[in-house]
Amino acid sequence: MKITLEHLTKRFPNRNKKIKEDVIAASDLTFEIPDGKLIGLLGPSGCGKSTTLNLISGLETPTEGRIYFGDNDVTDVPPENRGVGLVFQNYALYPHLTVEDNIAFPLGNLRGKDKLTKEQMHERALEAAKLVQIDTLMERKPNELSGGQQQRVAIARALVKMPSVLLLDEPLSNLDARLRLQTREELSRIQHETGITTIFVTHDQEEAMSISDMIVVMKEGVIHQIGKPQEVYDHPGNLFVAKFLGTPPINVFEGEIRDGKVYIGDEAVLDAPNGSANATPGNTDGASADADSYRKIYVGIRPEGFIPDENGALTVKLNKIEVMGRDTSIVAEHPAFTGTTIRAIVPSEDVEGITGETVRFSLKPKKVHLFDHETEETI
Ligand SMILES: Nc1ncnc2c1ncn2[C@@H]1O[C@H](COP(=O)(O)OP(=O)(O)OP(=O)(O)O)[C@@H](O)[C@H]1O
Ligand SMILES: [Mg+2]
Repeated sequence: MKITLEHLTKRFPNRNKKIKEDVIAASDLTFEIPDGKLIGLLGPSGCGKSTTLNLISGLETPTEGRIYFGDNDVTDVPPENRGVGLVFQNYALYPHLTVEDNIAFPLGNLRGKDKLTKEQMHERALEAAKLVQIDTLMERKPNELSGGQQQRVAIARALVKMPSVLLLDEPLSNLDARLRLQTREELSRIQHETGITTIFVTHDQEEAMSISDMIVVMKEGVIHQIGKPQEVYDHPGNLFVAKFLGTPPINVFEGEIRDGKVYIGDEAVLDAPNGSANATPGNTDGASADADSYRKIYVGIRPEGFIPDENGALTVKLNKIEVMGRDTSIVAEHPAFTGTTIRAIVPSEDVEGITGETVRFSLKPKKVHLFDHETEETI
């Protein structure tokens, strides 16, 4: 089922009487989710992810905008008639019911021509349980299951009505790291097997990147970028997106474009891309004396963008070298760095020559991103 959001906005009245403005949990969201794809909805806490899911499921009504499933406008259709399966951020199983009855529970609400016999419900519950591989645990109660198994019961319960849309709100949040990895791979498999259009909410960028066909990056109710995970990683549209994706995070330096070069401190580290020195219109304050050849910027360098090179242009103060097996992490400092410590990830064999108090790097141009200092948009 293709999902289309058109100018979708959700405002909540502010309960703090001193603040007049509403909370804008979702602001003018417009995008299309192609049929049968898995979309990762990604962003920091409070950015509006759950609100967006609740709007799509019908649990919240939008202040403005429309929602379409296929060609049908479902904006005013109640949640139970939208054909969505939901796994909530704080999913809850019924403690007194067995796994089977928990999974079959939504089927009990079917009425009229859709009403199922006990036998049919049993079959459908078993099918859903098989998908998440808990079909051998059908007689247990939730408190006799591990956290991961419980989470899978919640997913089976969302699948049992064979929804055309599956909405998952941080479905793996209660799992330890290993189970999380395993369950996310299972989710990806189930999604491929069933072809159900799925929206997967997480604040974990690695999780979103690893299983999504497309990611949507949000901040403060606004969509900042939509695209294939690798595309968004390689071509972030602004500084926020660049910082949000990637572990360790991108290294951000204060920088300048002068005379056709990108400078960090006194060092010219790269050639500036064509036309990049032209400051944005109106940005003609004292500091940028010559708007044609000077521009204040941020220089973002991915950890894998540094090449140890004794003739390299960027010199940093070495703090320590952390060997991690295949790769080595070089931890360093630089006066123009905007964070606390720089992290460069390099192949272990490339660090052998590194001794002394400073390290010099040359940079992989594709791993360097330049941002306007004021707008923080990519140059
Ligand atoms: N019923 C409500 N009334 C008022 N404000 C709300 C309500 N629900 C959500 N908000 C606000 O809307 C914003 C978005 O909330 P939402 O729950 O969608 O964020 P989220 O991205 O899911 O965050 P998290 O990762 O912490 O779950 C937040 O600022 C939140 O405080
Ligand atoms: Mg949430």
